[in-house]
Amino acid sequence: MSGFSSKIGAILAAAGSAVGLGNIWRFPTETGMHGGAAFILIYVLFMLLLGVPVMLTEFVIGRHGQKDVTDSFRKMSGGRNWWQWMGLMPVVAGFLILSYYVVVCGWTLYYAFVAGIDGFAGKTATEYVQDFQDFSTSSSEPLIWIALIMLMTCSIVALGVQKGIERGVKIMMPILFICVAVLVFCSLNLPDAEKGLTFLFYPDFSKVTGSTVLSAMGQAFFSLSVGIGCLCTYACYFRKDVNLFKDSLMIATIDTLIALMAGVIIFPAVYSIPGLEPDAGPSLVFITLPNVFQQVFGGASEVAYVFSLLFYLLLVVAALTSSISMLEMIVAFFHERLGWRRSVVSVAASVVCMLLAVGCSLSFGAWADKTLFGMGMFELFDYVVAKVLMPVGAVLMCVFLGWVVDERVVRDEVTNGGQIKTVLYPVWRFIIRYVAPVCIVLIFAKEIGLI
Ligand code: ALA
Repeated sequence: MSGFSSKIGAILAAAGSAVGLGNIWRFPTETGMHGGAAFILIYVLFMLLLGVPVMLTEFVIGRHGQKDVTDSFRKMSGGRNWWQWMGLMPVVAGFLILSYYVVVCGWTLYYAFVAGIDGFAGKTATEYVQDFQDFSTSSSEPLIWIALIMLMTCSIVALGVQKGIERGVKIMMPILFICVAVLVFCSLNLPDAEKGLTFLFYPDFSKVTGSTVLSAMGQAFFSLSVGIGCLCTYACYFRKDVNLFKDSLMIATIDTLIALMAGVIIFPAVYSIPGLEPDAGPSLVFITLPNVFQQVFGGASEVAYVFSLLFYLLLVVAALTSSISMLEMIVAFFHERLGWRRSVVSVAASVVCMLLAVGCSLSFGAWADKTLFGMGMFELFDYVVAKVLMPVGAVLMCVFLGWVVDERVVRDEVTNGGQIKTVLYPVWRFIIRYVAPVCIVLIFAKEIGLI
């Protein structure tokens, strides 16, 4: 199997999978809905305690297999072959996550287009709200943009690991970092920036409930793309000299920094004009920011134009690097395991995801009344992925590596055959054997009212 040609390509691809709408759209949304700084503290704690260890677990499983996730589980299971079915998880999860993720990607692409034609200029706050509602509830308009994003994702994945994914992320990730840095600088210079920073960094623990904790855990998993085999799939392409410990820490650090920077971009902006609230939900980025760009920069319409265009371009880039990794999970399985051609699988899987995405998109409009457990299709898919599949997948992977696989095999893979000496190995092993499974099970028990 041809892997990433360079270490930096592998790291950027994994970082690109992690950094996405989860950081720039979902993180501010969840932070805004759960009261700000206290949520962030719990989220960062989960990143360290669960996110990084589970990420390393996925890397170890994936790189050991070097073929596809099913094969990695089979190879490591020491004859307990039913574990190989865990490898199907990325396929199922890939379809689910991509189907609703591309809906927000589509909104993003549309907003980048509107920003590009200066379509935000000269409107009132009410018009921005109305515009987003009209667009997101339309039965046809979002579908065009969703289809375009799906087409871009499919084309890059169909080209393969080196030509498509590695080349793509090498160009896109640096653009993303530059965009974030510029936007942070601009936002910090807004008139009421300190109010937004207080909301972000001054914790109010009275707002913490059981659902805050589950949401913070779900956000940590979603943001790192862990628990569903996404990173396992990429790790299959890692070279044997990649330091998995160092890379997990580096990717989690990049991911957390980008999320915090997105908060620093968005909340000072939200507080800079009266009447805007941080708890606007999924529409936060789309309703408040065009408004803010125009209001804050007042007469300087060129600055508003550049600021909004940069921001939405940044969202498109971040969304693409993640949607690519989601489609790759599906394609790797059918290509490596069943021998189907990459291009054929990429197109077929994209068509299936697009059909599901139609349902997710319609759940904001024509199908708003079609609910299950009180949730529309989009909300249900997000709940199932972030709050069920990712935590359950994380527990199973930790149990697999911590209790099922021969410890010598694990140690050998983590330390690159004994070449890497690290005091963190026993800490990580203790976490995946005890801390992570117990912690996740307790949070679930609390959520469903057992404790
Ligand atoms: N980890 C991906 C993101 O943050 C799913 O968007």
